Amino acid sequence: MVVLTHPILEPGPTLLREATELRLLPNQYRHPVEALRKAAEGAQGMVTQLMDPIGEEVLRAPGLKIVSNVAVGYDNIDVPTATRHGVMVTNTPGILDDTTADFAFALLMAAGRRLLEADRFVRGGAFAGWAIDMLLGHDVSGATLGIVGFGRIGRGVARRARAFGMRVIYYDEFPATPEVEQELGVTRSELYPLLSEADFVSVHVPLTPATRHLFSSKEFATMKPSAVLVNTSRGPVVDEAALAHALKEREIFAAGLDVYENEPQVHPELLKLENVVLAPHIASASVKTRSRMSEVAARNCITGVRGGRPPNLLNPEVLDSRR
Ligand code: DGY
Repeated sequence: MVVLTHPILEPGPTLLREATELRLLPNQYRHPVEALRKAAEGAQGMVTQLMDPIGEEVLRAPGLKIVSNVAVGYDNIDVPTATRHGVMVTNTPGILDDTTADFAFALLMAAGRRLLEADRFVRGGAFAGWAIDMLLGHDVSGATLGIVGFGRIGRGVARRARAFGMRVIYYDEFPATPEVEQELGVTRSELYPLLSEADFVSVHVPLTPATRHLFSSKEFATMKPSAVLVNTSRGPVVDEAALAHALKEREIFAAGLDVYENEPQVHPELLKLENVVLAPHIASASVKTRSRMSEVAARNCITGVRGGRPPNLLNPEVLDSRR
């Protein structure tokens, strides 16, 4: 039996139903841990999403073979504990890179050129005719883009930036190969020089203890007053209270956010500001990508339940412990 903690898109449910008995949990954004623990009892597989905290209580369920997350990020799952209990963990990498990079670029442009503020301005009846100094923003073309986290999505953003004639610098603890740097026309930088040089900063790191609040008061103070911050990674990478303060005090020009520290809550101070574009964690939300994520998560789960090795296995060590 496989537990689906939240609905997924076709063909995911059909594939799962064809392969096994499927149980969909009652509709609830954040299932209490106790409900997840109970759901895991008697399940061989679980198809989970980023709002499901999967820890010891769930992972110790006897017979549970696989937790298949419908996301590339898997910070909601305690992978070392899963490994200890012999439970496989999978994610959906490589599917949402372009869709997410497109959206990061959309946020970058919207925040830099004040697009949402302009929309509110027109709808609010404030447009009284062309004016030389109306809603001035900052150029994307020719600007310097700093990419923090240079994995698949960060590289996708770099590719888009080239078409805008941007100079691209990146920070990642693991440097890209010289071939990749050359192909994408990018240069590696340390974090603080990047922050002080970039006109736009786009964040693409996973959430780990090391990246929690990677962006806080000190980082905003290092950025240019004209700089724009874009975050499509994970909310807790940015200290939201510090960001709201930096935006309010014009320490930085604007921000574009798709993710939040305590989703679905958004820091109340951010909601009051004009110079931040707020999206509800939809960077990967295209019909094609979300369907494909659902399909891949379903296939990972089915393979794991059948005792095979799923293609997107995050903890291959579990297989070593099997006789
Ligand atoms: C992911 O895949 O990690 C995204 O945040 C959800 O689309």
